[in-house]
Amino acid sequence: MGHGLAQIFAVYGCTVGLMDVKEGLLDRARENMRNNLTLMAQKGIGRLEDVEPAIGRVVPTTDLKEAAKGAGFVVEAVNENPKLKQEIFRQLDELCPADAILATNTSVISITEIAQKARVRERILGTHFWNPPYLIPLVEVIRGRDTSEEAMEKTMKLLTDVGKHPVRVNKDVPGFVGNRLQHALWREAISIVERGIADAATVDECVKYGFGLRLPVLGPMENADMVGTDLVLAIHDYILKHLESSPDPSPLLKEKVRNGELGFKTGRGFQEWSPEEVERSRKRLQEHLLEVTKGIDT
Ligand SMILES: NC(=O)c1ccc[n+]([C@@H]2O[C@H](COP(=O)([O-])OP(=O)(O)OC[C@H]3O[C@@H](n4cnc5c(N)ncnc54)[C@H](O)[C@@H]3O)[C@@H](O)[C@H]2O)c1
Repeated sequence: MGHGLAQIFAVYGCTVGLMDVKEGLLDRARENMRNNLTLMAQKGIGRLEDVEPAIGRVVPTTDLKEAAKGAGFVVEAVNENPKLKQEIFRQLDELCPADAILATNTSVISITEIAQKARVRERILGTHFWNPPYLIPLVEVIRGRDTSEEAMEKTMKLLTDVGKHPVRVNKDVPGFVGNRLQHALWREAISIVERGIADAATVDECVKYGFGLRLPVLGPMENADMVGTDLVLAIHDYILKHLESSPDPSPLLKEKVRNGELGFKTGRGFQEWSPEEVERSRKRLQEHLLEVTKGIDT
């Protein structure tokens, strides 16, 4: 995620310090950015002649002090480890200019917990980008317990300026908004397979050829108003007690992991995957995102 985030700000014209622990990782980050931007330009998103200048604005370093020097806005994207993130924010708090905003790209960890060891916590917040961050417009801007309104507003404006679609998340709850919605759906999807109601491919077909087609233009709340809250109530009255509500991961999911059936990584998960199918799936997603995000007005 880190190089994808650097790419967004560099394309907009910012000088970006990109910090990682090894030179080799920074070289790979630069190569990834070059490949992403070239592919995007070939698809009509940006221009080929802007690729190298953008990459030139990313200054790689293995020294956090150097990256933090003069920074106005910092996004942390280290591994999803609460202790590591707390320590990074303790250091960033000491190293960054007093008016810098410090953001974490955590997927699920509490922003308040991550900020715990920093002294100035008002300027710490969450910016949850979605992968790949240079194509998916959404960024959830999450308010921690101590985050100031000023930091929230400045971040919303900056993200809008760099072409993203930021949204405010007013409470620091696990999963924020997007992942709560996504995993409510995944829990039910896995449960349907586990209970033998339909197989994994059929579950996906029900989304891809069904209500999934409406989702890019019609979210659940607008959809509820469209069909009428009275109908939603009648449906929920009947169906909610039948939906999966376990607070624990599914036994089927645990069994898959125990057996080393890890999905694309091992060629088998809920379904079987040959190397060609894995490649085809990844390519299809990339082509789709390049196509649909081109037309989105953020
Ligand atoms: N991958 C996704 O789809 C996705 C989506 C949204 C949010 N996130 C979040 O973004 C963060 C990064 O995820 P990722 O998938 O890019 O992980 P990753 O493992 O690919 O990258 C983490 C990077 O952090 C570096 N790192 C480790 N310790 C460091 C340190 N002390 N200082 C500087 N760099 C250090 C690692 O060398 C590595 O390059 C996580 O918090 C993750 O939950 C990931």
